[in-house]
Parts: sequence; C-alpha cells; structure tokens
Amino acid sequence: MLRSHTCGELRLEHVNQSVFLSGWVQKSRDLGGMTFVDIRDRYGLTQLVFNMETQPELCQLARKLGREFVISIRGKVAERSSKNPKMPTGDVEIIVDELEVLNKAKLPPFTIEDETDGGEEIRMKYRYLDLRRSPLRRNLELRHRLSIATRNYLDKQNFFEIETPYLIKSTPEGARDFVVPSRMNPNEFYALPQSPQTFKQLLMVAGYDRYYQIVKCFRDEDLRADRQPEFTQIDCEMAFVQQEDILNTFEGLARYLFQEVKGIDIKEFPRMQYSDAMKFYGSDKPDIRFDMKFVELNELTQNKGFKVFDESELVVGINAKACSEFSRKELDALTDFVKRPQTGAKGLVYVKYNTDGSFKSSVDKFYTPEDLKLWAEKMSAEPGDLMLVLSGETDKTRKALSDLRLELGKQLGLRNPNVFAPLWVVDFPLLEWNEDTNRYHAMHHPFTSPKPEDIHLLDQNPGDVRANAYDMVINGVEIGGGSIRIHDRGLQKLMFKHLGFSDEDAQAQFGFLMDAFEFGAPPHGGLALGFDRLTALLGGSDSIRDYIAFPKNNTGRDVMIDSPSPVAQEQLDELFLQLLKKK
Ligand code: AMO
Repeated sequence: MLRSHTCGELRLEHVNQSVFLSGWVQKSRDLGGMTFVDIRDRYGLTQLVFNMETQPELCQLARKLGREFVISIRGKVAERSSKNPKMPTGDVEIIVDELEVLNKAKLPPFTIEDETDGGEEIRMKYRYLDLRRSPLRRNLELRHRLSIATRNYLDKQNFFEIETPYLIKSTPEGARDFVVPSRMNPNEFYALPQSPQTFKQLLMVAGYDRYYQIVKCFRDEDLRADRQPEFTQIDCEMAFVQQEDILNTFEGLARYLFQEVKGIDIKEFPRMQYSDAMKFYGSDKPDIRFDMKFVELNELTQNKGFKVFDESELVVGINAKACSEFSRKELDALTDFVKRPQTGAKGLVYVKYNTDGSFKSSVDKFYTPEDLKLWAEKMSAEPGDLMLVLSGETDKTRKALSDLRLELGKQLGLRNPNVFAPLWVVDFPLLEWNEDTNRYHAMHHPFTSPKPEDIHLLDQNPGDVRANAYDMVINGVEIGGGSIRIHDRGLQKLMFKHLGFSDEDAQAQFGFLMDAFEFGAPPHGGLALGFDRLTALLGGSDSIRDYIAFPKNNTGRDVMIDSPSPVAQEQLDELFLQLLKKK
C-alpha cells in the first residue's frame, strides 16, 4: 500500500500516529525555515510540513516539487498551531520523515483549484485535469450516489436491470440516428439507439414485467446546455399497469432520490393538463417555483383603436409583482429581450400600476385608466405591480411570453436552484403537425397509445387526439417522459397509417414489434428519466456537461481525443464506403 489514509481523512484524533499518504501536489509555500506542501487526492487536502533545520535534505527535495507532482510520504500527524477551519483536515498537519516522488508533472495549463483560470476549451482538452478539481469531483460523486440509489429503489420494487443492444436498426421517427456501417453486411448499417424503446416493449411481451436500465442513448441533434449527443437515461417499463401506477412509482423514485441523496423532502407532484400548461405558462415544462401565470386579455383589449391587439389571435399578459418602478432602461431591455430572434415578439406592451393608484402604459393613447383598471383586475394586479402584455399568433405569443416569464423570474430571484417544484404534465396531444414535412408526427413516439375515448377523432381531427402520455417536470426542466403503449397490432398499424407510413414501410421498419404484439402482449407503459438532467438539477445547474465525465463540446466534438476524425482508406474500403467531397 502506498497510503494508510486518504488526504481527506486525518483529524485531531490521529495526532501522533505515523501515516502514509499519496497524492498530487496542490501547492507549496516556502516560509524561511519551513516548507508547506498541500497534498491532494479525491478525498481532500492535507498540509505537509518540511523543516529545514531538522531535515535539510528532505526540505530541499520538497522545495523542488512542482504543482501536480505525484508523491508519497511517510510522517507523523501533529496538531497545527494555526488551524484552518475551512479545511476538514485543517486542525492537523503531517511532519514528514520520508518523501518519494512517484511521478513528475508538467506545469498544468490551468490552475487545478475550485476556482480555475482555465477557459472552457482548454479544460475540455485536458478534461482529466479538470476532473481533479473538487467541483467536478463532487458532481461525479452526486451522479454515482444517484445511480446507486436508483438501483436500490428499483431493485426493492422488483425491477430487473436488463441490457439491450447498442447496435440496432435505424428508424425514421424521432431525432436523427447515428449510423454505423456493417463490414460483414456490405452497404448496410446499424443505428445507435435513441432509446431502448422497442426493446423494452419486447421485454414486456417476454414477461419481464418490471424492467429498468441506466443506459446510454444517442441522438444526432443540435446541442444545447441540456442536450448531449450521447446521454444517459433511467429507462423503465412496466406491464399490467395503468398510467396512475406509473406516475406513482416514478414519483416515488424521484422523492426517494431527493431524500436519499440530498436529504430533501419534496412534496407530492401536482398534475397539470398539457392544455393548461400551455395556456397558463406557455410551455409544456412550466417552472412552477413561481406564479406569474398568463392572463388572456383579448376581450378587454379589442376595439379601442389599437390595431396591433385588434388583429391578434391572442393578447396575453403577466403580472410582475412589485415591479412598477422599473426604469425606462429596464423596460427597454425587456423589450429587446422579447424581440431577440429566438423569442421573436414584435414588441412589448407595459402597464405600470403605480403605488398611488395611477397608470402609466405604453398604450396610454388607446386605453383609458378605467380600461387599464379592468386589465389590472383581471390580472390580480395591485398598485406597485407591472403588467407586461404580448400579442400575436397564439403559439408564438405563448412561447415568447414564456421566455419573458422565465427571464423575469430569473431577474427577480424567483428561480432559486435550492427550491424544487416538480409536477406531472399529463394528457399530451398524440400528434403534432410538422410544417416542414407537411404531416403529423407522433408528439412522444409512435408507440404511444391514444386515449381510448379520443380514438374516434383520429380521422377528422387528428390534432385533437390526446395521448396517455406524461412528462415529469422539475423547475422548468423536462426530466422525463413516457406513455402507456399500444399493445395491439391493429391499433399500432392504424397509428403508422396516420403517421404517413404505407403498410409495407410500417412492416419493414416495425414489423418485429407488431408481430410480437400477436404473441400475447400485455398492456404496458413506462417512462425514461434523463439521468444527466436529473443530476445537474440536483447539483443546482442548468448545464449537464459538468455532470458527465467526458462530454462533447457544443459542436459535438470530443476535443480531448479529437473526435470525430477521418478514418483510413482501407477502413473505408472494407466498409464499401466512399467519401464525398466536402461542400
Ligand atoms: P424522451 O425522448 O422524452 O423519451 O427522453 C426521455 C428523457 O431523456 C432526456 N433527454 C436528453 N438528455 C440529454 N441530452 C439529450 N439529447 C436528451 N434527449 C432526451 C430528457 C427526456 O425527458 N423512449 C422514451 C421514453 C418512454 O416513452 O418510455 C424517450 O426516450 O430528460
């Protein structure tokens, strides 16, 4: 053993013990006769002391240690005369008797401390150095704790963890696939799974009525802070259940994880219909840590000479409590915010309900104080509040107001990362219209079952059919989603027809699943939670990257191993692939 203790372990009770420690040099300081070195490992930091008077040779050696050298020492634990209450080991230090340099280190390209001077790109290139820093170490520890707790909970509930293949079949629904050419089957390709969806359904047909897997999924889509091309799901499926059973089981899992890992007791999850989420928050993943619900103002705003509102499908506002004192500059900044291309509003109407009861608005020309008073009543605004109103086409306006609501919530400190407000959004539409392809797509996926009472609408009003589909949302983040599945061949075939598949295409793509449904498929359903997102949320961050040991950057590259990269001509030949010239 190169160590008797870790670098985070020693306390006053160890004083006078002889110990061996191994780790990395965090930093060293020469103070005349003494040299102090902080030694670090995964568990913490310990101060080492070298005395020039009693051990000049050793002290000389210690003075030559560079940052990040790997060393091993033997020494005696002593009580510190000046203690450091900020360090768990801050009461003690080690008077070193022996020092061995196990490996030298080049000067690291950034400082490996909690606050580093390294930019994103360089830290990604030297990810193994960044991972030495304790913020990242804590993130990975959190991830580890969550995965252990997940397994414990699901194991107790009789779930089996079963692995499903990574080399599967490309399907046209959903995001883009990553494809893998097959050498043994020239001109044919596997696809990496976007999720184990069809396999977990086949496991239900096989009788494994409670399945889960902490599993990698792959999607070739544009990246964002909460999206990676490869990411991890807690993927689950259950047979002989109804929606309610699934919601209860996984609400139970979420509450267990918060309790076990963070000691936080989250309350029961409220349920919100998708249609209400859109109407009151303009989003299918509302952040309900704060109120600021949408209030529709069409009736109160029409025919007063303000053409913009008269011509709008929707006029809708929010009430920012106690914000009537916002300055011109602050209001302009909010207007610029909603006009950004990604939000896309044309303008922002504001109404200040001043503390003296008067109104000041950007539409004073068209609306009298009496008119504005009615708005205020409808919006439950009081003197001192600020009403912000957007208008236009319904979906776009809701989306823009949702952006504004979240931005204001952030500015007003209403989105505290230590407060958790979960909910289930239920009754999603089965289908959504896609402008680009000019057809309906499955909103969740094509295996989701329509609500039986809505099936009759499939022919006339496909957009109105609701699905037995649900999302788990926490703090405005879609943590997971799932559905009750179709388990009947006829209905599955009908679904594919509505999604624009010919019978032949449906059979070629998904025949294996529809065939299985003819061999005794039980009713089943499930969901998948985004494991990276859940971890980041519990860690208090919006970005999942720092909760993944080796993530991709925002162009999908791993800059550490420099991938993706070209392959040799022989490899291409073997795979019968030919490169096209870059455009
Ligand atoms: P869905 O596509 O909704 O459902 O994915 C489930 C959850 O996975 C997370 N997620 C992601 N996390 C990081 N990066 C990504 N690119 C990414 N994409 C999705 C989200 C999301 O809620 N098979 C179905 C589940 C089911 O029906 O059982 C599925 O994959 O948190």
